[in-house]
Amino acid sequence: MRKVGIIGVGEYLPKKVLTNADLERMIDTSDEWITTRTGIKERRLAAKSEATSDFAIQAAKSALKDARLSPHDLDLIIVATITPDMQFPSVACLLQKAIGAKNAVCFDVSAACAGFIYSTVIAQQFIARGVAKHALVVGAEMLSSITDWKDRNTCVLFGDGAGAAVLSEVKSGGIISAYLGSDGSLADLLMMPGGGSRNPSSRKTIAARMHYIKMEGNELFKCAVRIMTDAAHKALAGAGLSCEDVDWFIPHQANIRIIQAVAKRLELNENKIYVNIDRYGNMSSASLITALCEAAKEGCIKKGDIVLLDAFGAGLVWGACVIKW
Ligand code: ACO
Repeated sequence: MRKVGIIGVGEYLPKKVLTNADLERMIDTSDEWITTRTGIKERRLAAKSEATSDFAIQAAKSALKDARLSPHDLDLIIVATITPDMQFPSVACLLQKAIGAKNAVCFDVSAACAGFIYSTVIAQQFIARGVAKHALVVGAEMLSSITDWKDRNTCVLFGDGAGAAVLSEVKSGGIISAYLGSDGSLADLLMMPGGGSRNPSSRKTIAARMHYIKMEGNELFKCAVRIMTDAAHKALAGAGLSCEDVDWFIPHQANIRIIQAVAKRLELNENKIYVNIDRYGNMSSASLITALCEAAKEGCIKKGDIVLLDAFGAGLVWGACVIKW
């Protein structure tokens, strides 16, 4: 089996910024509530002309440049998203067309906030077994398109953006271990009920606001802390490492209090945690990869560092991954 690592990263965040002060003017909320309960200060929103694939294209180009590869070098493109441009074709195929990656096999993965880890593990399998040489994994979301801007319980949480990583065979280091899990019995805690085959779009589904995110925040919070802690332990055990060996903890950015609670249980020092939720909110599958990209580009992560990725989301689904950078 070949060793597989991340050889390039990129991101794209739309220019429009929506601050907590802006939200104060839209709904019954306050900067103080949002900041203390979530850690979010602002988030990015797509322009009217933009869709998820537009973010994915920019992030992909940036990651390819970082990896010094051309689109023709790619034989696999996976896009993790729960907000595709349309039901079909996949965002991965739209991205393929836009960048001219003619040699790539393309598909999307729906694993919500754990989408980037799920997609990375899939790409790793392709490369490790010699089925693919270079893979592009993108996490891209336009959550503003499924956010109920009248629901203060959810609309303060989400944002738009994309991140991308290029995976290839590496001589040393790379992905040391990964652990994935799912529990469909808790699917009701977080969903968008309208628009699928169960409730096709109709006047009734629109009137019932079924095309927006519905979330049981309190219950999810508890699940997230318990499950992300367990996933991190399992991925580290798979790598033969302990929490003390971790140089950087890059968690999904759903809530600063979830991140802090998980880090506390893992006994990880605060200066080992990369956080960007204050600037972008929760971007589902795009959160973790943009955090990883920024941690790498800002020079926080050094060659040889042990990086622990950890994510949790709708499904429920979760995953953790240990990478030697
Ligand atoms: N502004 C002001 N008050 C608010 C707001 C708001 N934006 N939203 C809720 N409140 C009020 C509530 O109405 C409630 O008031 P009440 O006590 O009078 O009823 C009070 O604040 C407390 O509400 P809680 O829901 O208990 O607040 P909590 O501290 O749990 O925070 C939150 C809510 C931020 C949603 C938190 O539960 C959370 O982050 N949950 C996890 C989310 C998550 O991990 N999602 C999974 C990933 S997302 C994905 O997969 C797409």
